[in-house]
Amino acid sequence: MKIYAHRGACGFFPENTMLAFHKALEANSDGIELDVQLTRDGHVVIIHDETVERTTDGTGRVIDYTLAELQKLNAAAHWGDGSAFHAIPSFEEYCSWVASTPLITNIEIKSSVIYYPELEKKTLALIKAHHLEGRVLISSFNHLSLIESKRLAPALPCGVLVPNPGLVNAGYGIKHFGFEYYHPAYSSLDEEKVAECHRHGIGVNVWTVNTMEALENCYRWGCDGIFTNYPEVARPYVDSL
Ligand code: G3P
Ligand code: CA
Repeated sequence: MKIYAHRGACGFFPENTMLAFHKALEANSDGIELDVQLTRDGHVVIIHDETVERTTDGTGRVIDYTLAELQKLNAAAHWGDGSAFHAIPSFEEYCSWVASTPLITNIEIKSSVIYYPELEKKTLALIKAHHLEGRVLISSFNHLSLIESKRLAPALPCGVLVPNPGLVNAGYGIKHFGFEYYHPAYSSLDEEKVAECHRHGIGVNVWTVNTMEALENCYRWGCDGIFTNYPEVARPYVDSL
């Protein structure tokens, strides 16, 4: 069962920053999960929300900032005592770094609130430019983004992200639509749902697994991967099972 550091190792470090990604590597994660959006001048950036208030010292929408403007904001403004500065990473910066590591990256295309023109195309172009094709997984709650990703890069695996209560006959449906993974919320999952996916050749990666009970159940049910805020805790525990 692969361990993906959710938004980097965001339990102890500011989410979706290079610091959180470096810490995920140090914790021996198998992979990193991150969220991408687009700036006003067309750069792919790593940030979870469509607006910057929750995680930075700025206000307003990501789409209204240029990359240069956005990178003046502190992505660690609400973390710790707020004194450390960490920029919002561009996806280009992340790709340059991760290419020199063994990590897998789950790129979540954040396109459910704002449908950014060409976010899929620009994201896939960076993956290709950095030769990361064999080590990425595309996911989205907006399944139109998965259809577009498949159209542009059929060989890249896609994970169908689903909020509670999940899908009925998920494995059958996901196979039918030509995707490779089911990404359900842990609270919507059970052993039979994992087995149904596997019967159809569909892998199961579960979010967001932050308790020992959830971790143990996912392992027991044979899940293929989990997203956790605490890879530092999950890694030694899973290795000991
Ligand atoms: O990919 C799993 C998880 O990241 C989805 O939820 O809100 O943390 O992006 P969220
Ligand atoms: Ca995410």
